[in-house]
Amino acid sequence: ENETLILAIETSCDETAASIIRNGTEIVSNVVSSQIDSQSRFGGVVPEIASRHHVEKITLVIEKALKDANLEPKELSAVAVTEGPGLVGALLIGINAAKAFAFAHGLPVVGVHHIAGHIYANALVQKMDFPLLALVVSGGHTELVLMKEHGHFEVIGETRDDAAGEAYDKVARVLNLPYPGGPHIDRLAHQASVGVEFPRAWLDDSYDFSFSGLKSAVINYKHNMDQRGEEIVPEKVAKGFQDSVVEVLTTKTVGAARKYQVKQVIAAGGVSANKGLRTSLEQAFEKEGIPFYVPPLNLCTDNAAMIGAAGSFMYNVGVRGNLSMNGNPGMEL
Ligand code: KG4
Ligand code: ZN
Repeated sequence: ENETLILAIETSCDETAASIIRNGTEIVSNVVSSQIDSQSRFGGVVPEIASRHHVEKITLVIEKALKDANLEPKELSAVAVTEGPGLVGALLIGINAAKAFAFAHGLPVVGVHHIAGHIYANALVQKMDFPLLALVVSGGHTELVLMKEHGHFEVIGETRDDAAGEAYDKVARVLNLPYPGGPHIDRLAHQASVGVEFPRAWLDDSYDFSFSGLKSAVINYKHNMDQRGEEIVPEKVAKGFQDSVVEVLTTKTVGAARKYQVKQVIAAGGVSANKGLRTSLEQAFEKEGIPFYVPPLNLCTDNAAMIGAAGSFMYNVGVRGNLSMNGNPGMEL
């Protein structure tokens, strides 16, 4: 039979991950080794520490993915690996592991864009229907991507400054919450009924985003309260911040979905794990009558299964990398 079995590897940021994907849509195994614990005391990702962690874990993670799948390397069709964007030192560890494995077992390598991976996480849970609009919101990205067919990506809007997840993580620091801050702000936001009033950056009717003004507004609010000797209520600050982010993301996504008359809307990336955002998008698209999907939480944050899903589609249309592949930290979608 003509089965495609892909070993996928992801090391672009702070998760060391490997996965086996069958025929582009079925997760056979999915291993993620997180370094959130070793990074959290620095309040963010330290590139040197990320690289060292990847070096320590990569072989074990790949072996476990094969063992969980009960597969021999010779049964595989190809190795897919995140080529960019990301931290160059971190990317190179995954890429070198992929190349060494591919060389040892006579397999082709396929280089995958990290954001294509986040979008294709959806292919693991339901059929992608085109034209499709993807809201990609992560620690490094905030983009609206239009897909007219498999493998075709058009960025119709993006952030002009901070990514949504970056704003979450910075506001979390102001509130003395641990890294990564997104889940903590999400939890606090649900504990307040009324939030502090913060601005929304609409940027006229473009599909671009801006979160640095909102971030500054939160910092200024805290500063002014401190100066007046007043205590802030973290729940209300979290709710005010989250309401602003969610309203802008939802409104622009709905506007773009209408304009491009898409058949399906998906959310992707770490911030799409946000409960407030998921609920808001679900309600908005229910009203619009457009199917909306978001992958389960473990496929929203960084993982290799999503890289395997995107890599499978690329492999099936004949994409083959070679052993000269390099890390591409600023890779374009
Ligand atoms: O996709 P991801 O795991 O890594 C990148 O490619 O950046 O996204 C990580 C980001 C972090 O900024 C984190 O704070 C945010 O996703 N995040 C959340 C939530 N869970 C993770 N942001 C808001 N609400 C959440 N529940
Ligand atoms: Zn990511």
